[in-house]
Parts: sequence; structure tokens; C-alpha cells
Amino acid sequence: MKKYYITTPIYYVNDVPHIGHSYTTIIGDAISRFKKIMGYEVFYLTGTDEHGQKIEKSAKEKNISPIELADKVVERFKTLWGELNIDYNFFIRTTMDFHEKGVQKIFEKLLKQGDIYKGVYTGWYCVSCENYISDDAEEDSEGRKICPDCGRPTEKVSEDVYFFKLSSYQDKLLKFYEENPEFVIPEGRMNEVVSFVKGGLKDLSITRSTVKWGIRVPSDPEQTIYVWFDALHNYITGVGYGTDEEKFEKWWPADLHLIGKDILRFHAVYWPAFLMAAGLELPKKIIAHGWWLKDKKKMSKSIGNVLDPYLLIHNFGADALRYFLLREIPIGIDGNFSHEGFIHRVNSDLANDLGNLVNRVWGMAKKYFSSKIPACKGELYLENEYELLRKDYIDYFDKYQINRALERLWSFVGDLNRFIVEKEPWKLNKEGKSEEVSRILLSLVQAIRGIFSLVYPIMPDASEKVLKSIGVKDLPEREFKFNFSPVITDIKLEELPQLFPRVDKDEFFRENKEEDKKMGEEKEKIREERKYIKFEDFKKVEMVVAKILEVLEIEGADKLYRLKIDIGEEKREILAGIKQYYKPEELINKKIIVVKNLEPKKLRGFLSNGMLLAANINGKPVIPFLPDDVPCGSPMT
Ligand code: MSP
Repeated sequence: MKKYYITTPIYYVNDVPHIGHSYTTIIGDAISRFKKIMGYEVFYLTGTDEHGQKIEKSAKEKNISPIELADKVVERFKTLWGELNIDYNFFIRTTMDFHEKGVQKIFEKLLKQGDIYKGVYTGWYCVSCENYISDDAEEDSEGRKICPDCGRPTEKVSEDVYFFKLSSYQDKLLKFYEENPEFVIPEGRMNEVVSFVKGGLKDLSITRSTVKWGIRVPSDPEQTIYVWFDALHNYITGVGYGTDEEKFEKWWPADLHLIGKDILRFHAVYWPAFLMAAGLELPKKIIAHGWWLKDKKKMSKSIGNVLDPYLLIHNFGADALRYFLLREIPIGIDGNFSHEGFIHRVNSDLANDLGNLVNRVWGMAKKYFSSKIPACKGELYLENEYELLRKDYIDYFDKYQINRALERLWSFVGDLNRFIVEKEPWKLNKEGKSEEVSRILLSLVQAIRGIFSLVYPIMPDASEKVLKSIGVKDLPEREFKFNFSPVITDIKLEELPQLFPRVDKDEFFRENKEEDKKMGEEKEKIREERKYIKFEDFKKVEMVVAKILEVLEIEGADKLYRLKIDIGEEKREILAGIKQYYKPEELINKKIIVVKNLEPKKLRGFLSNGMLLAANINGKPVIPFLPDDVPCGSPMT
């Protein structure tokens, strides 16, 4: 069986996962699923980058240990990948024992053979990019070099370190690029790499003596291994290097490293040089994708413009987010994210075009045949059209032009919607031409089956629902091949839930704009600043026990309840966004904790006078209920 090994960058654990990280991981998942359908055995590796100065510093600011920070953030990544339907084979953490051992093994090998030597590094270091900055970078007013990649001021360092002889790989790298002109795509990025290497390579410091949070150099334990040397090797330790040689033989070299354009130099220059030194094969391809921008700036925690993927997943579903990110921009180009653009795309392509097509066909099948369409000969026109589409779609996907593959698929969706209008099955039904109606519907069902097989790598959830409803047992189907005609059996369609509900833009903004804005700016700022508060500040918050007396609905609001509560000294009303998670009967007469002295706020025309406390489990509220006999109004101290 043909094999395909694909990786994402491993994500730093100082950051909360956002749309930018989701983008790379979704591309990887879509390609993995596509390759599986095309008959490959696939290994999809993702994970987290947990060592280094940046994590050390971030943990210190939060007053926790680096591993505690890592453990927490890893869970957030894994939960998000679950929500987004990411089907990875292994989640590597650079703090895993076998990875550390693998990195040490390579380090000692290179040291022994003379590719690594000891020296002194004096220069500038960008903690945020974990990168050494050259002396010709610009300076700020305080004389500090500015990182050319992220624009932040850098630190002056001077330490005893080990260097990797990068300079001696310059010619070998250039020869390799010449022989493999498509090693990096898009082409423009390959050119950037070549001119960087042609400009001359200096030896690279690959240890730190002032950073403690890292893998130790076995023969010199005062030194920790530079986080990029450590991290890049995840691509080999993750498939068995140093622990399972058979597995390593099977999967290495990687077929594709997916990365963002910000980390191209590490992957296309340093990584191949490390591998050459170790005598290992080089990866076959690197795709450097563009960035998702918000308000024209790269989404990042420090700018405070990150978008919470959960806001979109909970409102629109994972499939819609996956579709949007892959359809909206070609891989390689930057995209500016706007909720307006998102809602427009989802409503028009998913709710209108594809969703309506399925609704119409399923609706007619139910109305005319009680969902069991009798067998008849198929409609050749659709079969030919589908064959052309299938070929184009696979070609685009093979060239990693997923947006074009989807664009092409949607032109077929448009054809099918027009086909229905032209054939007017409702008229034929009235005229009693039942066989013709059945032929039209069966052909459409087959075409829809084809569409959802093709779109399965991008929207696995909806595809599975539709294919199951048609009775397809093996998911996904091999090479998207279908038997269009003659259709020899009846088809019984199972009831389908609404696949892509239309989203009302105004309502979405009414309900989420504030939360979204907070997520982007305030929340991040608060998180950053949240170290300690003074006891007297804490004492200002009055929290008391309350009993829920009544649960009232608010017209048009699907998230909020009006709760009438008793707080001992008085009865009052609060609003709580828990409607999607609690039924009124689960709340009535329950004892809860509320913040009593929060400034009242008007929402949906009602005044909320206080706030209920609940644990936030990835956006899902879980209310701590107190025993029935706790008196209302008891203060929390
Ligand atoms: N830990 C390193 C990678 C080591 S790989 C051996 C790192 N981590 S990161 O968490 O900062 O970023 C990883 C990747 O996240 C980026 O390369 C990019 O793929 C993705 N993105 C982060 N923000 C992004 C956007 N705003 N837009 C698109 N992708 C971006 O670098």
C-alpha cells in the first residue's frame, strides 16, 4: 500500500489555540482524509512544542511550572482538535521521554562527528520567535535590536554554547534546492529560501546555557538544547526514530510538512541541514501557507486579535469552519477574517446551494415516494458531469489547490440545482409520470452521494450524515467512484437533520459581537494581567447563595434565560446564557451562587441584576448546585 506521512508544526504551549493554529491543522486533516480515500496508508502527526525560554518565561509569569502550563494547554489543543474532527494518528509532546532521548541521541552523534562544536555566542535573541537576530537588524530607541519577523525588541545574550556547522551545508543545500525546485511551495517561498542561503550561512548556536527549561546535553548537562533543534526533530521521533526503527523506516521521509510562512527558514534551511548531518533522508515537500489576519494584522495572542474557534464552532458547526477556511483563500495567501464574510460564505454556499439541494431532493422523495425511490435507469447527463468533476477535483487536490477543488465542486452543485428547475419534477408528478420522477430523483441522489464523498475530507460530519442516510456503509468510499447508471435497486432515504442552518447575521452579532470583541482584546489582556489581586479587591465581590424560583424564556433568544431568584433579603431577576445546556426543570428550586453586586446590565430589553456562577468547560456552562438546606443569602467567603 502507498504511504503518506504528513505533519503540522508543533504548537507552542504559551498560546491558547486560535483560528490560525486551527487553519494548519484543518488543512492537514483534509489532506490526510483525501489521501486515505485515494488508497494511501496515512500517518498524520501533530503536537506541542513545550521547551525553551518563551515557555519558561510564560510559566513564570503565571506562577506555575512550565510542565503545569504545558499540561493545561495541551488539553486545550486536544479538546479543540476533537471539536474540529481532526483525525490525527499521534499527538507528540516534546516533553515525552522518547522524544528527549531521540534528540539527545542525534545531538551526541553530531557532536562526535564534528558537526557540533563548542564556542561563545554574543548577540541578540528574540524570545517570542525563539530566534537569533543578526547584527544588522534595526535598533529601537533603547539600542535594542528589533526582531525583523515579529517587530519586538530582542535581548542581548552572551553565553557559552554549542554551535552547529550550518555554514558547511550551504552548497549541499543549494544543490538540493536545484534538484528539487518544488521542495517548497508556493514557488515564491522557494525563491526566498534560495536567496537566503545564497546570501551566506553562519554557524548556528544550538544550545542555551541561561535557559533551564529544555532537553539537557547528555555530555554537558549545564547546557540545554535550543528549542528549534529540539522541536524540529519531533518529525522523526514521532514516527519511531530512536525507539522503533521499523516504524521509522516505514514512515520517514515525510511526504509533507505543513507550516505557516513565518517558520519557513527553520524548516527549509535548518531542518534539511540537520538531517543531512545526521545522514537521514530529507522531507519530500514543505507547504508554507499564509496567515489569517484580523483587522489586517496576523492573529496572535500578544496583539490581542485572536479569534476564538469555539465561537464559530458552537454557532455554525465544525464543518462550516473547516469549509470556510479552506474555501476562502488559496493555501499560501493571507486572508483577512471577518464574521460578515464568514456568515455570507456559509449562508450562500452551504445553507443555500448545497443545503437546499439536499432538502429539495429529500423533500420530493418523501412527498412522492415516502422516501423510497423505486429503481429505474439512471440519468446519463449527470454521470458524465460527475466524472468530469471528479477528475478536476482530484487534480486540484493533488496540487494542494483545495479552494479551487471546492469552487469546481460548487459549480456542479449549481448545475444540479438548475437541473431540478429545468426538469420540474413537481409538474411531472402531477401529470402522473412517476417513472420519470423517480429517474430524476435517483440521479440526483447519486450525484449528491458523489458530492458528499468528494467533500468528505473537508466536511466529514455532514458527509457522514448524508451518506448514511442514502445507505452507504463504507465511509469514505474509495477513489470517489460511483455507479451512476443503471441504478438497479430502490433507494430508501433516511430522515436527515438540517445540515447547514441559515444564520441570521444581525442575530449573530447581537448575541456574540460583544463576546467576540472581548475575546479578542479584553479577555487576552485580562488573562495576561491576571496574576494576583489584593484581598480587599476580592472582598468587594459579594457572592451569595440564591434559589431559582422561576425560569422564563425570552422571545427570540436561544441562549438566554430570565431567572427569578431569591437571594434572602430580596427577590430579583438575572439573565443567564445557559438555555442551550439546561432545561427549566433542571434549574427550578435549585440553589446556586450569584454575584450580587455586579453592575446591572440590560440585555434583550431585560435588566440583569447579578450574575450566576458556572464553570466554563470550553464554552459549556456547568453550574455548581448547592445542597437544598443552604439558606438563601448566605455569603461566600
Ligand atoms: N513551535 C513552533 C513550531 C515548531 S515546528 C517544529 C511555532 N509554534 S506556533 O504555535 O507559534 O505557530 C505554529 C504555526 O501556527 C505557524 O507556523 C502557523 O502554521 C500557525 N499559525 C499561527 N498563527 C497563525 C495565523 N494567524 N494564521 C495562520 N497560521 C498561523 O512556531
